[in-house]
Amino acid sequence: MRMKHTIATACFFAAVSGSAFADEQPIELKVTPGRDVVQNNCASCHSLDYIQMNAPFMTGKVWEAEVTKMIKTFHAPIEEADAKVIIEYLTKNYAG
Ligand code: HEC
Repeated sequence: MRMKHTIATACFFAAVSGSAFADEQPIELKVTPGRDVVQNNCASCHSLDYIQMNAPFMTGKVWEAEVTKMIKTFHAPIEEADAKVIIEYLTKNYAG
């Protein structure tokens, strides 16, 4: 009986964090140095969940290419110094 209760509770939390809040709340990126730079530069065109969704497939090199693509192809107004911080942050926190 105890076991059953625990499982039900776990499912409840999974459901809440997985769906109900997704559209309402800003995505919370991991709080490590560089996070502010990413939030300031990467959230203007699309949701930051693009970062979380792609994390399992990413490496540092691919993030570098991705950030370059955002700047070159989509004209994201990101300073070179900020781009470096962003790539470092993504590589540390969101590369699978
Ligand atoms: C000037 C607008 C703009 C900014 C700023 C921007 N992006 Fe994008 N991003 C796009 C567009 C346009 C797409 C592709 C179309 C779509 O799926 O919405 C995209 C797609 C993506 C994808 C999905 C994979 C892909 O290549 O399609 C990722 C990951 C991503 N962006 C990450 C970032 C990161 C990290 C930053 C900050 C460095 C950033 N974006 C800033 C416009 C932007």
